[in-house]
Amino acid sequence: MTTYDIFPGADGPEPQAPQRADFGPDFLWGCATSSYQIEGAGTVDGRVESIWDRFAATPGKIRDGSSGVHACDHYHRWPQDLDIGRDLGLNAYRFSIAWPRIFDGRSREPNAKGLDFYDRLVDGMLERGLQPWATLYHWDLPQWLQDRGGWASRDTVDAFVDLADVVTRRLGDRVGHWITHNEPWCTAIIGNYEGWHAPGLTDLGTALQVAHHVLLSHGRAVPVIRANVPGAQVGISLSLHPLRPASAAPEDVAAMERHDGLRYRWFLDPLYGRGYPEATLAQVGAAAPVVLPGDLDDIAVPTDFLGVNYYFPETVAHDPDHGPLGARILPAQGEITAMGWPVAPQGLSELLARVDRDYRPGPLYVTENGSCYDDVVTGDGSVRDVARRRYLMRHLAALRQAVADGVPVKGYFAWSLLDNFEWAEGYLRRFGLVHVDYATQERRLKDSAKWYRTFLRGG
Ligand code: FCB
Repeated sequence: MTTYDIFPGADGPEPQAPQRADFGPDFLWGCATSSYQIEGAGTVDGRVESIWDRFAATPGKIRDGSSGVHACDHYHRWPQDLDIGRDLGLNAYRFSIAWPRIFDGRSREPNAKGLDFYDRLVDGMLERGLQPWATLYHWDLPQWLQDRGGWASRDTVDAFVDLADVVTRRLGDRVGHWITHNEPWCTAIIGNYEGWHAPGLTDLGTALQVAHHVLLSHGRAVPVIRANVPGAQVGISLSLHPLRPASAAPEDVAAMERHDGLRYRWFLDPLYGRGYPEATLAQVGAAAPVVLPGDLDDIAVPTDFLGVNYYFPETVAHDPDHGPLGARILPAQGEITAMGWPVAPQGLSELLARVDRDYRPGPLYVTENGSCYDDVVTGDGSVRDVARRRYLMRHLAALRQAVADGVPVKGYFAWSLLDNFEWAEGYLRRFGLVHVDYATQERRLKDSAKWYRTFLRGG
């Protein structure tokens, strides 16, 4: 059993401000976004309904009753948004493909207008010196696929491989970096067991079957992407949390280990050839997924990098009445963001070091990291998001520590370029470096964006 330090609380002395030069000349500096959260244009150019449109239309599911149908109207305003990315000094940009723009469920042929949009977007990135990082699935499954069983159905694996094939054939001459899935945990567990994300189901067996099919679809898509894109760099992005036991008591430490089995090893072990963790399989019992011969070999396909999305550590307590594993995440203490998430920069260096040590996955990229605050536009039009600027600075200091410790982390994508549709929180939660006024669609650089720009200019 691994031993863990109890979370030491606040992060100690203010770090020395990081400098871009600390990371070397080849480090990638980006922002991350996702299709449903920013594109809008929900019914334009042949886009069909996604599970998030359906979920958002269900009363009570989204806190402000909103949806992504208009979002940031990035579908039309992308040139301005990419200009902002260029002007910040980014050299990479992470975006995702909206599957409902590509396949409508009626025709086997892809929707030309949907593909044309991403074609323009990618050209726009290249013209601005932004290396495109495309995510194939960031949660906006077409509703027609959900109607046929969604990710719980093995057919969705084949449908995803078709999507990967079509998209990489079209964009692969210009896009070299591909992320198959964003955060399979959220797709599977939040969407199908906890139920507060689309499609809103609450069954553990379904959730674990979904997780298996998501991982299988990753494994099956990777060789297709490689065949279409010579020299492609392909990986997957996982949402991971460093864990701390609520106390040093053996039952809390054991609860943390059980939680870790599902939260961390359930995804990483099969991706790196170890199959599903035995202890967790026993704990989930009849909810374990159906795994066919060959699946685990497919999932363990070699990849070129691992994407790590880091937001906060979790503190886990023994609670026999809570969840399938008798483990409960305690509410955060100390400094928190407007999401109630703890601010713990050192968790980033700790997490990267752990993943590297446990699996040796090769190059690591922080494919998301960011913070939510209740930003206000002041009379002079500025957004003084001091807390976000500090969050960013301290997390980059932690990243510098990881680099200095020899962890092979090669890039950082801030979540997010723009304020956007924050899933079940609707537009109530702002994560952007750039403020969006949803009534006018005006964009304004927050102070955090200006800090990032200064950092990227080497100032
Ligand atoms: C991540 C999601 C991303 C965004 C951030 C705040 O889990 O990948 O879309 O919602 O959280």
